[in-house]
Amino acid sequence: MTFDERLRNVSVIGAAGKMGSGISLLLAQEMAKQKLKPENKNVPYRLNLIDINEIALDGLMSYLRAQLTKAGEKTTVLLRDLYRDRENLVENYDIIAAFVDDAMSVLRLGTDLNMVKNSHMIFEAIVEDKNVKVDLLKKLDRLSDKDTVYFTNTSSIPIHVLNNEANLGGRIIGFHFYNPPAVQRLAELIAADRINPELKDMSLELAKRLRKTIVPANDIAGFIGNGHFLRDGLYAIREAKKLAPEYTLPGAIYIMNKVSQDLLIRPMGIFQLIDYVGVDVYQCISETVSGYIKGEDLKDDLLAKMVEKKVLGGQHADGSQKDGFLKYEKGRPAGVYGLDKGEYEMFDPEGWSGEIDKKLGAYPEGTIPWRKLLMDPKKNEKLSVYFKNLNASDSLGAKLAKAYLKNSKKIGEFLVETGVAKSADDVNSVLLNGFYHLYGPINDYI
Ligand SMILES: NC(=O)c1ccc[n+]([C@@H]2O[C@H](COP(=O)([O-])OP(=O)(O)OC[C@H]3O[C@@H](n4cnc5c(N)ncnc54)[C@H](O)[C@@H]3O)[C@@H](O)[C@H]2O)c1
Repeated sequence: MTFDERLRNVSVIGAAGKMGSGISLLLAQEMAKQKLKPENKNVPYRLNLIDINEIALDGLMSYLRAQLTKAGEKTTVLLRDLYRDRENLVENYDIIAAFVDDAMSVLRLGTDLNMVKNSHMIFEAIVEDKNVKVDLLKKLDRLSDKDTVYFTNTSSIPIHVLNNEANLGGRIIGFHFYNPPAVQRLAELIAADRINPELKDMSLELAKRLRKTIVPANDIAGFIGNGHFLRDGLYAIREAKKLAPEYTLPGAIYIMNKVSQDLLIRPMGIFQLIDYVGVDVYQCISETVSGYIKGEDLKDDLLAKMVEKKVLGGQHADGSQKDGFLKYEKGRPAGVYGLDKGEYEMFDPEGWSGEIDKKLGAYPEGTIPWRKLLMDPKKNEKLSVYFKNLNASDSLGAKLAKAYLKNSKKIGEFLVETGVAKSADDVNSVLLNGFYHLYGPINDYI
C-alpha cells in the first residue's frame, strides 16, 4: 500500500488532547489538499478523531474550524491554485470557506474505537501511561488490518516496549511532535531495532507533508528532548534545594528560574517551562524514564509533593497558563509557591525578591532578553560577547549560570555518549528547534 493510499483513511486516538488536537489539524489540512486533487475526485477521505472525552470532542470541532480558517487565510495562493477550476469562488473568503468545508467534511469524531476499522495509519496521543497505551494498541490491532501502522507520540516510553507488549511486529514508530504540534517545526523520530523498514520511509514522507524537521533519536527512554529537559529540570530543583537554607525554598526557586531565563538567555525560566509542560506531566516523565534507566537518580520528592498538593501548572481551556511552581498574572510569573504555607509568595521588588536580585548581582554587559535576540542577524556575535562577559563575571548570578550551562552541556554530551543521539548536532538541533533555545547545549561558550 502506498503512502497516499494510507493517507485516505487515518485515525487519531486522544484527538481532543493538547497534542492530539494539533496532530488532527495537521492531518486534516494535508488530507483536504489530497482530496482536492483532480485525480482524487472520487476517492473518499476519512480522518477519524477518537477520544474518550465527549465534551472535549465538541471543543475539538470548534478548535479545528477556527484553526483551519486561520490556516486558509495564510495559504490563499495555494488554495487559489487548488480551486482554480471552481469559477464560482471569486473572493479569498469564498475560497477559504470552501477549503474549511472540504477539510471539515473529511472528519468523523467519536468515542468508539471501532471507527479505526479501515484506517491504515493510526496516531496515538493518549495519556502517558505504558499500560494504558499497550492496552489501547492491542485493541486497535484487533480492530484494524494487519498492515496498519502506528505513530505514537509518547514522550518517554521506549518504542520497543510498546511494540513487544502490544505484539505489533515492528509496525509502530515514535513520531514525537512538540507542543503545539501545528506550530513547532521539530519532530523526533524514534525507530526501535526491529521496525518494519517501510515505516521509516513513511515517517520521512509524513514529515515532509506536515513540514516537520526530523531529528532521529535512539530508542532509549526520554529520547533527546525529554532526556535533556528532565535532567536539566532536576538539576535546577536540586540546586534550589541547596540554596534553600539561605534563601528559603520559594526564594531559591525564584533564583534558579531567573538565572535560567535571564542569564542563559532562554525563552522561559526552567520552573516556568515545567509549569508550561505541567508539573504532573513532568513528574510522569520522570517516573517513566526512571523505570527504564538504571544507576541514575531521575526522581525528586519535590515534584511528588507538588502533585500531591495538586499544584500542577498546565493550561486553562483558553490556553492561558495555570499556576504551578510559579503564579501567573497576565501570563507572566508574579509569585512562587511556598510548599510549607500552601500559598504563593508574590514577587516584591521592594522586599524579598528585590533583596535576592541585589545578591545575584549586576548582569554581565551584553545581557539581552531572548525575545530581542531571536531575530537579530548578529545573534551569534552578540552571544559570543555576552558569554565572554559572563565567564569573566564573579557575581552570584554568573556563578550559578556558568554551573548551569556546564551541566546542560554535560547532559548533551551524555546523550551522545550513551547513544541516545547520534551526534552533538542532533542534540543541539532538538534544543534549538523544539525548545527554541538560541544556542545548543553542546557549545564552546562555556
Ligand atoms: N503536552 C506536551 O507538551 C507533549 C509533548 C510531546 C508529547 N506529548 C505526549 O503526547 C501524549 C498526549 O499528551 P497530551 O499532553 O496531549 O495529553 P492530554 O491529556 O492533553 O490529552 C490526552 C487525550 O487522550 C484522551 N484519552 C486518554 N485515554 C484515552 C483512551 N484510552 N482512548 C482514547 N482517548 C484517550 C484524553 O481524553 C485526552 O483528550 C502523551 O503521550 C504525552 O507524553 C506531550
